Amino acid sequence: MKTAFHAIALDGPAGAGKSTLAKRIAKALDFVYVDTGAIYRTVGYYIWMCGIGGRDADGVRRLIDEVNVKIEYIDGVQHMILNGKDITDEIRTPVISQYASQVSAHACVRDFLLDTQRDLAKSHNVVMDGRDIGTVVLPNADVKIFITATPEIRAKRRFDELQAKGNKDSYEKVLAEMKQRDLQDSTRPIAPLKQAKDAVLLDTSDMDLEQAEAALRAIIREKIGL
Ligand code: DC
Repeated sequence: MKTAFHAIALDGPAGAGKSTLAKRIAKALDFVYVDTGAIYRTVGYYIWMCGIGGRDADGVRRLIDEVNVKIEYIDGVQHMILNGKDITDEIRTPVISQYASQVSAHACVRDFLLDTQRDLAKSHNVVMDGRDIGTVVLPNADVKIFITATPEIRAKRRFDELQAKGNKDSYEKVLAEMKQRDLQDSTRPIAPLKQAKDAVLLDTSDMDLEQAEAALRAIIREKIGL
C-alpha cells in the first residue's frame, strides 16, 4: 500500500556510490537519507566487540537481544547509537564491513532491523540505500534504482576513501575484500543483493559524481516529478 510519503530506494553493491549519491539527492529534495548499511554495521560492530564470529549463527542469535540500535540525525547527518553510545565513526573500518556483511545474512538480524527501516519510511520522505530496499524493505517504493559499477572501479573508489582516512590497505586487498562481500551479499538465501524487477539500472562505471547525480535526478523526475 502506498503511503503519503515518497520513498526512493537505492540498492547496489559496495562502492557503487550509493551513499554519496543518496546524500546529495536527499539534500536536493529535502528528503531524509537513510543509510541502512550503517544499521547492519552497528550490529556487526557489537558482535565483533563481543568476540563472536559474524558467521556464528547461534552466537549472533544469543546476542541480538542485547543490541539496542537507534538512529539520530544531528545537523542532517545520520548517527548510529549502539546501547546509548555514538559509534558512527567506529563502524567505518574494513573489519566491520566484513562483519556487517556476515551478520546481515542471519534471519534473526534481518528480522530485528526490518521495522526500524520501514518505520522511518512511514513518517518521512526518504532516500534509503542498501541491498534489499526495493525488493524487501520497501517493495512499494515510488522510485527504485539499482546502482552499480565494475568491481575494479568500485574498489578504486573505496581504496581512495580509505587512503584519505589514513588506511594503508593495498588496492588489491580492497578489491579482494569487495569481491568477497559482493559474493556473500548476493548469494545469501535471505534478502540477497539483487535488482528489483521494477528497478532502473544505473551503471556509474563511466560517470563522475555529477553525471551520476544528474542521471539519478532524471530518473526520479520521470517517476515522481521531483
Ligand atoms: O552499504 P554498506 O557497505 O555500509 O553495508 C554493509 C553490509 O551490510 C553489506 O555488505 C551487507 C549489509 N547490508 C544488507 O545486508 N542490507 C542492507 N539493506 C544494507 C546493508
